[in-house]
Amino acid sequence: MKKYLKSIAAMAVISVMALGIAGCGSSDSKTDESSNANTEGTTTEEKDTLVVATNAEFPPYEYYEGQEIVGIDVEIMKAVGEKLGMEVTIEDMAFDSIIPAIQSGKADIGAAGMTVTEDRLANVDFTDTYCHASQAIIVNASNEEIKTADDLTGKTIGVQLGTTGDMYAGDVTENVERYNKGFEAAMAVAQGKIDAVVIDDQVAKSLAEGNDQLKVLDEPFTEEDYAIAVKKGNTELVEKINGALTELKEDGTIQSIIDKYIAE
Ligand code: ARG
Repeated sequence: MKKYLKSIAAMAVISVMALGIAGCGSSDSKTDESSNANTEGTTTEEKDTLVVATNAEFPPYEYYEGQEIVGIDVEIMKAVGEKLGMEVTIEDMAFDSIIPAIQSGKADIGAAGMTVTEDRLANVDFTDTYCHASQAIIVNASNEEIKTADDLTGKTIGVQLGTTGDMYAGDVTENVERYNKGFEAAMAVAQGKIDAVVIDDQVAKSLAEGNDQLKVLDEPFTEEDYAIAVKKGNTELVEKINGALTELKEDGTIQSIIDKYIAE
């Protein structure tokens, strides 16, 4: 569903943060209500629009709260839009449609907890990274066999189609089950249909939270960094967004957004 999101009220900067990549926390996610006082367009001045492609199946970075898409990436993009004086609209689509949407000009950028990879760099440019993450392993709570990444060899692994988890799982097994949503992969583990899921750490925690049939292994599978994808060659937009990201890192906004969704 297409959702038109207006900028939210200025956020209180509650934490001091050093320059550089924000670590995206390490424990339970919490979902604050983000205030969305404005609803439909009553703006007087015309603003340029930044169309952001995402896949809102990825809590706590982007997910639906009722009809509204919320999450870390959404709030960071709104803050970037505010810095650039641009209106931000969020387009929800399949994860593997995001890069094609940027290439075709359907979207200006992609913000979807997207990991910078060599393969993707052939098709899009990336901004500076804004978040450090890892791929985690979810198994059934009753599974005593899979304790580390080494135990995944040859197992049936569920992933979200087109993600880095999809790539890495293929390195250790031929049995990769690809789902449109990470949630569906997690349900398959809970039901004993597959052995494990490889998915981003905070998302793994969020999926396993409140489901006592799932557990997340302590040891991560890989380390990676998230950035915003931009059409190849659009260095002007990359530089503009990097400028905004630098300011938002320096003034603590990014860390406060992360802290709002991820309890340290
Ligand atoms: N970090 C992983 C990747 O870049 C997964 C991202 C999935 N994001 C999403 N919004 N579904 O491949």
